[in-house]
Amino acid sequence: MTVLLLPIAAAGGGASVPTPSIFAPVSSPALAIRELAFLALGITGVIFVVVAGLTAYTLVRFRRRTGDRPGEPPQVYGSGRIELAWTVVPFLIVVVLFLVTARYIWEIEARPQPAGALEVTVVGNQWWWEIRYPKLGIVTANELHVPVSDAANPTPTFITLQSVDVIHSFWVPQLAGKMDVIPNKTNRVWIDPRTPGTYVGQCAEFCGVQHGLMLLTVVVHPREAFERWVAAQRAPAADEPAARSGRALFASLACINCHTVRGTAANGVFGPDLTHLMTRWTIGAGAARNTQENLRAWVNDPATLKEGARMPAMKLSRSDLDTLTAYLVTLR
Ligand code: CUA
Repeated sequence: MTVLLLPIAAAGGGASVPTPSIFAPVSSPALAIRELAFLALGITGVIFVVVAGLTAYTLVRFRRRTGDRPGEPPQVYGSGRIELAWTVVPFLIVVVLFLVTARYIWEIEARPQPAGALEVTVVGNQWWWEIRYPKLGIVTANELHVPVSDAANPTPTFITLQSVDVIHSFWVPQLAGKMDVIPNKTNRVWIDPRTPGTYVGQCAEFCGVQHGLMLLTVVVHPREAFERWVAAQRAPAADEPAARSGRALFASLACINCHTVRGTAANGVFGPDLTHLMTRWTIGAGAARNTQENLRAWVNDPATLKEGARMPAMKLSRSDLDTLTAYLVTLR
């Protein structure tokens, strides 16, 4: 089976080992969720101790002893006071959890978008994420790059979520709660990651056979590193003389109906934008590492790396595969 390919290399600044844990938050919505989780765990922990304690006490205190009279112990039917207590107390607990949760949701969702915020549109596809920066003219896939948002320079990222096919769910546990990605509806999440690093997430709504291979990576850059990333992504696609034959081959194939390489005839939008393909760690949204060898296998037949992938097998000759792959790896 395919293993999850978690990029360990952190961007620029402090390195962090990616963990999809809600208990290691680095962004306000995720911090709020951890607080809420601790409250719920605290309350349920107290309930557990009381119930388990009383049960253990009863089991020991009233266990059968030698010399006990045979037969059933006295049966007690009904106690108004006890029944009232075990109805009212849980009800109050539910009310408290409901009100606190509602307040947190309200506070997160009501936050207005400040002027300096970065705007990103993330589009769910079976089975990958398209990532657009409408104001920066960047389109990429599966790996979301954002600037760090610290107290000195708050730069939250506001993410617009759309789907082109079925319901997906955007979830990067260290940054924010889950948000469904729904066709014909626009949802929104925001994050303000305080620590540079690499954070991992996953589509959290069953969306078809490759739901499990719809990984998300968020790279939080220090400010200057983010500017550099933006500049590199805005640069035109590489056009290396040595790869011209592969470039011509690419342009002559069905590839260009689905993929874009900016500045060429390829302007398809069904598949990931390939302008800077080689800046990404993985292909197939985490299905395989982005290496020349894997790219070749992917172009030959994506199903060998990701069963059910929507890209057709290209059925190319070996030499064409080599030529095409040699071109793809120049797209840095
Ligand atoms: Cu997309 Cu599950």
